[in-house]
Amino acid sequence: MGRIAVYPGSFDPVTNGHCDVVRRGLRLFDKVVVAIARNGTKTPLFTIEERLEMLQETFKEMPGVLVDSFDGLLVDYVVRRQADAILRGLRAVSDFEYEFQMALMNRKLNKNVQTVFLMTGLRWIYISSSIIKEAAQFGGDTRGMVPDIVCKKLKQKFGTSQE
Ligand code: COA
Repeated sequence: MGRIAVYPGSFDPVTNGHCDVVRRGLRLFDKVVVAIARNGTKTPLFTIEERLEMLQETFKEMPGVLVDSFDGLLVDYVVRRQADAILRGLRAVSDFEYEFQMALMNRKLNKNVQTVFLMTGLRWIYISSSIIKEAAQFGGDTRGMVPDIVCKKLKQKFGTSQE
């Protein structure tokens, strides 16, 4: 079956930074499952269905990538998927504390589930979903920072022209 990693997140929306982590993940794993947490704590801009659609379009030409969503605990989903690890990206030192806490909690919940961290490419280090949404909301051009489908959906959502 090969080695499988689950890359979880809210992906509201997916950015080129996330894509970079997936690409790097595919060098270590045969399959990367990009999985949207349905019970996230944030109030999302896009529905689960919209986020799934954007992810599917983004990764449609990458056969090693599978797009999915899950309810409940991440570690339980990892077991259900028979995955080998959780994949997370690190952008800056500021990510570390949160990621460290989450990885340790996940290990406490299931000691057999490992977390693998990959450094996001330098050019994406300043990008987050929130900053993209904020820029798009006020008509900022997000091209080159998010996949084309996301650019289009942001324009539709905010009714702004980014030509
Ligand atoms: N490039 C660009 N942005 C990135 C990024 C990268 N490589 N890596 C992270 N980010 C951004 C995200 O866009 C997001 O930005 P935002 O805060 O502006 O929305 C932020 O960093 C972190 O979000 P994300 O990576 O999506 O993670 P999250 O914190 O939203 O999700 C879950 C956390 C879903 C993985 C976690 O809550 C979870 O596992 N939930 C399931 C329930 C569970 O098991 N809980 C116990 C876990 S300890």
